Amino acid sequence: MNAKIIDGKKIAAELQDKLKNDIAALPSSPGLGIIQVGDDEASTIYVRNKLKAAAAIGMNAVLHKFADNVTQQEIANLIMTLNNDKNINGMIVQLPLPAHLNEEELLDLIAPEKDVDGFHPLNIGRLQNGSDKALLAATPKGILYLLEKEKIELTGKNALIIGCSKIVGRPAGMLLLQQGCTVTLAHIHTQNLPELVKMADIIVAACGCPQMVKAEWVKTGAVLIDVGINRINGKLCGDIETVAANKASYFTPVPGGVGPMTVAMLLQNTYEAYLKQN
Ligand code: GUN
Repeated sequence: MNAKIIDGKKIAAELQDKLKNDIAALPSSPGLGIIQVGDDEASTIYVRNKLKAAAAIGMNAVLHKFADNVTQQEIANLIMTLNNDKNINGMIVQLPLPAHLNEEELLDLIAPEKDVDGFHPLNIGRLQNGSDKALLAATPKGILYLLEKEKIELTGKNALIIGCSKIVGRPAGMLLLQQGCTVTLAHIHTQNLPELVKMADIIVAACGCPQMVKAEWVKTGAVLIDVGINRINGKLCGDIETVAANKASYFTPVPGGVGPMTVAMLLQNTYEAYLKQN
């Protein structure tokens, strides 16, 4: 099988170039507020990437960083301030939060039109309803963008999502359902994963288990979307065995596949939020 690499790094860079041009033509710069609590190592890297990418396209991203012992009320106050700040078009609360903070309560406070992570219940409901008013979670939106860019036929295909997180698995399943896929959401209690993988035309692996999906399970010609970012002996790897790419028709590499799209789609959402607000 001659698998095609889906080059997320290149596709994200092209989108960010386009956003840079579009933003240059605006009367003001879109604003993005980023709230980070504590020093989670992965979060710090993600936030740094978001700030750098925003700056590179002329977007005004502002980091609000808090120590681990910040109170719920302090974060709530900031969210409400940003909700009322006309220069801020989008905001995100970088997850995970320390255990003493109530994540649901904080995300619910974000004005839905500024919820550029798509985590507010109103945006999740709009996604469920297939409304084009929904701000969509960045990673699933990025996955769909890659599939569309590669003109991969989705209607009638068996799509298997492995991992049913609120951030990736569930919204990705809903988006693929709306594209006409027959969607299976597999999770930690799923019993027959090898059998499900064997039937899948499209696999979205987002379980955070290094190399868990075995090449021998994968159907020849399947489309492999690997959301995993894991380390084995210091080397980055995904949730799908790397050699499975030999059986695929398309696959996303790790790194350089889905990861860069998450940042690009956050910027895209912030740009779209700006347009709706102005
Ligand atoms: N943590 C891991 N992924 C994400 C994301 O897409 N957004 C936020 N806010 N936190 C995350």
